[in-house]
Amino acid sequence: MPDKIIGFSKLSRDEKISWVSKNFLNNSDEFESILNKYLNDDKDIQLIHNSLSENAVSNFHLPYSVSPNFLINHKNYCIPLVTEESSVVAALSNSSKYWYDRGGFKSKVISKIKTGQVHFKYNGNIENLEKFINDNKPRLIEATDRITKKMRERGGGISNIKLINKSAELKSYYQLHIDFKTIDSMGANFINSCLEIISKKFRQLLNDSSHFKESEKKIEVIMSILSNYTPECIVESSLECEIVDLGNFDGMSSQEFAHRFKDAFDIADIDINRAVTHNKGIMNGVDAVLISTGNDFRAVEAGVHAFASSKGKYKSLSNCSIIDNIFKISLKVPLSIGTVGGITDVHPMVKLSLKLLNNPTSDELMNIICCVGLAQNFAAVKSLVTSGIQKGHMKMHLINLLIKQNATKDQIDKSEEYFRDKDINNQSVKDFLNQN
Ligand code: MEV
Repeated sequence: MPDKIIGFSKLSRDEKISWVSKNFLNNSDEFESILNKYLNDDKDIQLIHNSLSENAVSNFHLPYSVSPNFLINHKNYCIPLVTEESSVVAALSNSSKYWYDRGGFKSKVISKIKTGQVHFKYNGNIENLEKFINDNKPRLIEATDRITKKMRERGGGISNIKLINKSAELKSYYQLHIDFKTIDSMGANFINSCLEIISKKFRQLLNDSSHFKESEKKIEVIMSILSNYTPECIVESSLECEIVDLGNFDGMSSQEFAHRFKDAFDIADIDINRAVTHNKGIMNGVDAVLISTGNDFRAVEAGVHAFASSKGKYKSLSNCSIIDNIFKISLKVPLSIGTVGGITDVHPMVKLSLKLLNNPTSDELMNIICCVGLAQNFAAVKSLVTSGIQKGHMKMHLINLLIKQNATKDQIDKSEEYFRDKDINNQSVKDFLNQN
């Protein structure tokens, strides 16, 4: 077992690589040689990547794809997507093309409040504390004036502070629950900075107050941090058309398709086994745009799944209705994202993605991401209730299996025809390669 190392981050890149190779990879050259292949030839670009994370020794590539024909609120977009799952972009592109001819997506941002909390412990009179917070709200907000100035000029800032009493659930536990508007930025750093200032001011004002006993003044701030649960930062997108306009699918009539599709959505609404997978399909699209536009996909994932459970049971995020022969699907999700700040003006590919989307506002990007989630959801459930998911999936997976087994270009070219009516798996690919 290697010894614990102190000061690893201070080592040069070469030193880091040799330490890892020596201690974890039998001193082989492979680590360095592969890492070097993934470095960018352009020194300036490589410097940007190195600066994004501690101990960066190379870059990790994922495919950067584009999906055209996204008609969203009557505007035609070409969507940048980063995903390693081979069938995601193909399915999405089919879906966007299909809905382009049926009026496209409608989407709107419903609300855009983000929150953060100062979590603290207090042992004293509750009415006293409530009155103190109400009286001192303006002072707590004013304390952040210097750092909120620019945000306020753009129409954002702190919109409310309230005291939440959680002491029935956890002894002595209270929160200052603070609402923020962060306009086009995700605002994580902004919110966290404001919270830390407010928490300091809160302790100072309490200490200076003559309305509390000395023992009551000893509040203990446990932490001050934004919440990734954003049920007030919501976007909703929908798709609809008359059932007859859905067309036929693999010999299935449009009526039959619409009702089977709705059954699949209803199942996802009541059964957690299906709901999680149904929502994962939505997130296939959502995450791919989040990554291409430099947004925090972990934050969105955490918030989305909490939102899916907000009725006390994990449920589907999307909905399907059939009313008066109109087939409609919709998706409502919390999306705390940004189009400025973070890595949006640092990472060259992120800048390119935003340019491709015509430098959207955060509202526009919320609409785009939600529509991509809905398109992905439609594509997945359409396959599931018609041909089954594996047909399209394995076709895309075939290329992965061929490359894994060192197929030549000629063999890859021949494979499509060969596998048209055959099962695709490790063994059948092996057999094909032996025969061709
Ligand atoms: C696979 O990545 C996603 C699906 O499982 C989604 C779904 O089942 O709805 C196909």
